[in-house]
Amino acid sequence: MAKQKVIYYCQNCGAQSSSWLGKCPQCGSWNSFVEEVVKHDSDSGSQWSKKAPAAQQSKPKLIKEITYSEEERISTCCAEFDRVLGGGLVKGSLVLIGGEPGIGKSTLLLQVALLVQNQKVLYVSGEESEQQIRMRAERIHKDNDTCYIVSETSTQQIFQHIETVKPDIVVVDSIQTISTDSIESSAGSISQIRECTTEFQRFAKTTGVPVILIGHITKDGSLAGPKIMEHIVDCVLQFEGDRNYGYRILRSMKNRFGSTSELGIFEMQSSGLREVANPSEILLSQHDADLSGTAISATLEGMRPMLIEVQALVSSAVYGTPQRSATGFDLRRLSMLLAVLEKRCGFKLGAKDVFLNIAGGIKVYDPAIDLAVVTSVLSSNLDMPLSQKDCFAAEIGLSGEVRPINRIESRISEAQKIGFERIFISKYNSKGLDKSRYNIEIVECATIEQVFRKLFA
Ligand code: TYD
Ligand code: MG
Repeated sequence: MAKQKVIYYCQNCGAQSSSWLGKCPQCGSWNSFVEEVVKHDSDSGSQWSKKAPAAQQSKPKLIKEITYSEEERISTCCAEFDRVLGGGLVKGSLVLIGGEPGIGKSTLLLQVALLVQNQKVLYVSGEESEQQIRMRAERIHKDNDTCYIVSETSTQQIFQHIETVKPDIVVVDSIQTISTDSIESSAGSISQIRECTTEFQRFAKTTGVPVILIGHITKDGSLAGPKIMEHIVDCVLQFEGDRNYGYRILRSMKNRFGSTSELGIFEMQSSGLREVANPSEILLSQHDADLSGTAISATLEGMRPMLIEVQALVSSAVYGTPQRSATGFDLRRLSMLLAVLEKRCGFKLGAKDVFLNIAGGIKVYDPAIDLAVVTSVLSSNLDMPLSQKDCFAAEIGLSGEVRPINRIESRISEAQKIGFERIFISKYNSKGLDKSRYNIEIVECATIEQVFRKLFA
């Protein structure tokens, strides 16, 4: 007989309680406790649902005695995806991909499943029917005869399918739709998500087959379900982008087998996702005439250098309070930079509306973009275009000084590669910089006034 037990879970943080509580003692959220029935059943469920058998006795070994082989990684044949994973899919790893609905998670993983060579892939979908997946695969147009599709939501069934198909890679489309029989709450609840993730982890670790899970994201941008899920898995990847633009960025938030500063860039097209190997080219908008108010910044996203275009529009405020608006850039940082221009450099921007936009719909957190923001604002204010052959990479301090930034060499190399002729950097960045290595002219500045004089004088 199954023994039933009721546990209350906080749907926000996953805290447990034996009775209902109005306020979660762990995360402080109100009214988040939900009753979930946990059935401890000894004979139903697959072998992965139960605790791992204690047959294999573990034994401590000296670290140098432990052997491993280099080719424990499976190449997915998608260079951007491999890069984010740190060079391929590690055998026996559990990868979680999160992202907003409609961003392209299912498309990305179906594409990877179709692209991967000489590996049997089982794509389990709890969200779409087999026909719908086939239709999507038709759009992507990749011939493949090693990809199996199944529409299923019970883990016990999924493990049975795995036993018959014997795949090398398993993809599960949305962990929130999958449920296990050993717990009686509905799919998507905290205890279901946790239990299913644990079952897949046990399966991956025991068999060495990597499992990729898709996860939904909540309104505030965190992965739905408790943080616990992120602790269980080996890699957490985030797929993001502005839905109105075609660009998508795959970021690594946690990676036990690689660096988290790598990122992959894709473009959503009518025939699936295209890998973008050279991001600078798509982020720089093309225009023939010199336009005032645009400046190019050499930024870094993770470890990847790329050139992006900053656009500013400064105009006299018509209605009382001047407006400040920023897209893709921190508004408070913009206010700070405007205050620096006003106080330290004497530009009267207090009565002007300032609008700032980062082209391409991407968000930039790199402080090295400051100098490009300042020069684009000045350029728009004076209505004097900047040369299309100039780019900028420096942070601005509160006293109007041009401050050094990290990894200046890779930024200069990228600017040179794209074909810029001058790059403005901080004077304090040039220590140890071998300028003879570059063909691009490197302009060193210490203050905004120096930059201003060089550009507009
Ligand atoms: P999808 O992968 O279903 O998103 P998710 O699984 O993250 O919810 O992506 C759906 C969007 O992608 C949808 O708006 C249509 C678009 N899309 C394309 O533009 N081209 C394509 O080839 C495909 C398959 C989808
Ligand atoms: Mg989907």
